[in-house]
Amino acid sequence: MEASKYPSLHVRTERIQADLMEMARMTDPELPYTRTAFTAGDLEARRWLMGKMRDAGLDVRLDTVANIIGRREGNQSDLPVVMLGSHTDTVRAGGRFDGMVGVVGALEVVRCLNEAGWTTEHTLEIVSFTCEEPTVAGLSPFGSRAMAGGITAAQIDSALGPEGNSLAEAIAFLGGDAARLAEAYRKPGDIAGFLELHIEQGPVLEREGVPIGVVTAIAAPCRGRVTLVGSADHAGATLMHERYDALCGAAEVVLGVECICAAPDLVDTVGTVGFLAVSPNMVNVIPGRVDLQVEVRSTRQGFLDRVRDQVTRTVHGVAERRRLEVSMEWDTIEEPVPIPERMQRHIQQACDELEVRWMSLPSRASHDAARIASVTPIGMVFVPSRDGKSHTPEEWTEFEDITRGVAVLGRALMRLDEMEEG
Ligand code: GLV
Ligand code: MN
Ligand code: MN
Repeated sequence: MEASKYPSLHVRTERIQADLMEMARMTDPELPYTRTAFTAGDLEARRWLMGKMRDAGLDVRLDTVANIIGRREGNQSDLPVVMLGSHTDTVRAGGRFDGMVGVVGALEVVRCLNEAGWTTEHTLEIVSFTCEEPTVAGLSPFGSRAMAGGITAAQIDSALGPEGNSLAEAIAFLGGDAARLAEAYRKPGDIAGFLELHIEQGPVLEREGVPIGVVTAIAAPCRGRVTLVGSADHAGATLMHERYDALCGAAEVVLGVECICAAPDLVDTVGTVGFLAVSPNMVNVIPGRVDLQVEVRSTRQGFLDRVRDQVTRTVHGVAERRRLEVSMEWDTIEEPVPIPERMQRHIQQACDELEVRWMSLPSRASHDAARIASVTPIGMVFVPSRDGKSHTPEEWTEFEDITRGVAVLGRALMRLDEMEEG
């Protein structure tokens, strides 16, 4: 076989495993694996990560929204940067791999480049984005959205942090400075390309027995907040036909969302009610109020518009029939993000050069890559998830699979570095 012009990177499974397991230790001990953004656990993991980045020779800084950025100078300082990254915050009771694989994987690429003595033409930036998960209502993924210029000072002023403090205070807790928000913005042309390694979070790669997924498009999540208000009353003394039970209304909404999104003609479209707050939540009181959050996602804009519209009509129809007060607001409306074919080709060719089997697939989960896509071409590499499970402590990916993914990420980066002018 013809010798490659790129160095072969000696990706070390034991380093990746040690980093991921060390980060997994930094969890709320009562609720593994929980490291939600802006908490003390998040701060601890971020400090640890910055130390590891420095150990790898990176010049580490925080931008003004507290994205962690590690910089490795390239040969040509006039070129835009190339970027690798993901996130290290988790959902509540989440996993050890979602996001972390992309950050630790990027760090391992840097260590391998160092060992191979290879300097990229573009300066390389490794980013761990602040708050990818929906901890801050309506603004997540926060750090990547802000970097792409998609968050305004007014939005920060009116948002709350997770502890009921202001979002600006939460950002300051991590070392950012929301008053200087615009300094975090990057414009088109500042970044020549962004690559994110991530676990698939679904069953396709495992089922097909293929180790690498090349992502073709990222589904858009749309999220809505609904409040239904009926009348709290005595659960014994109130006859069935005299009730205004907000939870019964919410139950119809939950099943309505399932029914809408399960329509046989919908492809790559899902819907979930994952949050309900029932008030007063007592066994002998008719529920007077329910706040719920609904999410619909699709890789197809037409389907997304259709299900959002149907969900809105269902919510109002249920409220009217049951004579409940209702308010509903879609606070996140995204569009599906197609991945440029030439970015997919960098990853496919990296796989071919490394003799690793790959397949194309869409991402049904959302990612920082989707938000940064408005200012730079993006590519995503998936590795298999055991039983397709994610956002749960059972989330697992074999370390050998991650090692292979890191090798592909490194080679794709070298191709990107050579071929994208910016
Ligand atoms: C990110 O975790 C998502 O909700 O897709
Ligand atoms: Mn996630
Ligand atoms: Mn993720």
